[in-house]
Amino acid sequence: MPETTLKIRLFGEPILRRKAKLIQQAALFHRDILSKMAQLMYAAQGIGLAAPQVGVNEAMIVVDIGSGLYKMINPKVIKKDGSQVTEEGCLSIPGVCIKVRRARKVTVRAQDEFGQPMTVEAEGPLACVFQHEIDHLKGKLIVDYASFFQRMKIKSKLEALREKAKDEELSEPKTKSCKLQL
Ligand code: NI
Repeated sequence: MPETTLKIRLFGEPILRRKAKLIQQAALFHRDILSKMAQLMYAAQGIGLAAPQVGVNEAMIVVDIGSGLYKMINPKVIKKDGSQVTEEGCLSIPGVCIKVRRARKVTVRAQDEFGQPMTVEAEGPLACVFQHEIDHLKGKLIVDYASFFQRMKIKSKLEALREKAKDEELSEPKTKSCKLQL
């Protein structure tokens, strides 16, 4: 089950579309992966990363929008309020930005890396990032929010990524132009 080398997976890799498994008991293995995920997120200048994005099919996310690092196991949105539209990028879909409407405020329930229950209330960008990462655990991606015309516009980029995902390593992610990189 453990991946020896974790790297960011690109659009087109089947794991990004799978539903992540719930974690029954937090173990050392999970803490290891969460640390590596945080490292990869920072290295890619992202502000959030979900385990499927590094090839691990388990319900874990890391988030840091600059106000501290969250490491979460089995995160779930238990309350939503309001709405906001943000231009989002995704480390697995470099070069693509999509405007996504999400709740403006959320309450997230999860376990910390030691399996202790935690609840976080977030709004604005932080709420957006939590929702983006929790989407990843359901196999949902920002491109699923794209309108028909947006889809037409990004079609060739997605095709190119799919080709790249088949055989190549990820070079520098190019999500700089998006407001949020997740
Ligand atoms: Ni993402």
